[in-house]
Parts: sequence; structure tokens; C-alpha cells
Amino acid sequence: MANITYVEASGQSTSVNLNDGWSLMQGATANGIDGILGECGGSCACATCHCYVQEDRLGDLPAASDNELAMLDNVAAERRPNSRLACQIKATAALEGLIVHLPETQE
Ligand code: FES
Repeated sequence: MANITYVEASGQSTSVNLNDGWSLMQGATANGIDGILGECGGSCACATCHCYVQEDRLGDLPAASDNELAMLDNVAAERRPNSRLACQIKATAALEGLIVHLPETQE
């Protein structure tokens, strides 16, 4: 399990506990966090689950796959060095306390 904090573009912050194996996209959509859409259901095909990962924790995440990196070219908001797709990040204890910021728009 990991406690993840989502900070929406408005500044609203929500922390949720995610069981291992849940993606950060699932954690957001299941908890009413508006800044992530997840339109493709997590199959890395829509880029509407774009998030900005806390920079000093990037090393705690598995590296992005080639497919994720390609999809990140399609995000609606500015792509940054810490941009990731939330559906491709699965909760594990290593992510405890992680903060992710959400972009102003997903489409
Ligand atoms: S939910 Fe579609 S790419 Fe993440």
C-alpha cells in the first residue's frame, strides 16, 4: 500500500491510500479526483492521465516504457521532464508519500 497525494491545478490536494497493484490513474478516478480522466481505462492509449511526478522521487518509479514515452508526446498540457502517465505507475510500498501534480487540462 502507498499513500499518494494528488495536487490538482486549482491547488486542491487529496491523499488516498492505494493498494499494491492499483495504478495512480485508478486511484484518482475512484476517488473523484477530477484532474485525471483515464479515458482508455489504463491501456496507455489516450494520454488523459498525464501527471507531474514529484521530481525528487522520480528514481523510485520504474522507468517509462517506450510506449508510455511515445504517448507522452500526445498530452494536452505542457510535457515536462517529470511527466508520466498515471495509468502506468502501479502502487507499491516504494511510492509511500509520493506527491503528483495534475495538469490544467487533459484534452
Ligand atoms: S488512462 Fe489512457 S493512457 Fe493512461
